[in-house]
Amino acid sequence: MKVAPSILSADFGKLGEEVESICEAGADYVHVDVMDGHFVPNLTIGPVVIQAAAKAASKPLDIHLMVQNNPFFVDLFAPLKPAFISFHIEEEKHPHRLIQKIRDYGIRPALTLNPHTPESAIEYLLEDVDMVLLMSVNPGFGGQKFIPKVLEKAARLKELIIKRNPACLIEVDGGVSDQNIDALKSAGVDVVVAGSFVFGSADRAAAIASLK
Ligand code: DX5
Ligand code: ZN
Repeated sequence: MKVAPSILSADFGKLGEEVESICEAGADYVHVDVMDGHFVPNLTIGPVVIQAAAKAASKPLDIHLMVQNNPFFVDLFAPLKPAFISFHIEEEKHPHRLIQKIRDYGIRPALTLNPHTPESAIEYLLEDVDMVLLMSVNPGFGGQKFIPKVLEKAARLKELIIKRNPACLIEVDGGVSDQNIDALKSAGVDVVVAGSFVFGSADRAAAIASLK
């Protein structure tokens, strides 16, 4: 299991140190939640802050866009050379075109699904992406309760992935902890995002290790 701690739960007063701390504690990716105050009722960080904080990152960025006007934000964040950029399928009229745009930057494209969005919504895009991010909370805030229905969705998505693009990863984001990690693994999940569980632990290395 790969672990991508979400810096939404970090102390933003010392973001560089926080990023360094999770990289040293064994994170595989640094998960960055980009919120615009329109697609979700919260506002976070732009590329200037992330570029500064990412200087302390020894692991690649995993950028999760929760925005309207996805192409604009892809152009804004692409110069940071993240490993992944994911965007919400609910907010994109031309997902296939946007996937190509992300790939043309040399970045791995990923699709994100809100808790209510069925896996069938992206069946015909699976060949074109490297990862699918399933939300296990409603996007916008850290520290929310895990929605267990995502387990069923992950298992069904895994069947589609085996059929259409076995190399595609499944990532789950929201309310992940040592309480649900075994069920996530059994459902076929490859990468978990964890914000409050990792940043709220006195021993971050132990928290990440417990998820792995
Ligand atoms: C929610 C974000 C998550 C959030 C996860 O919109 O996408 O990445 O930070 O935080 P926890 O792990 O606390 O649910
Ligand atoms: Zn996220």
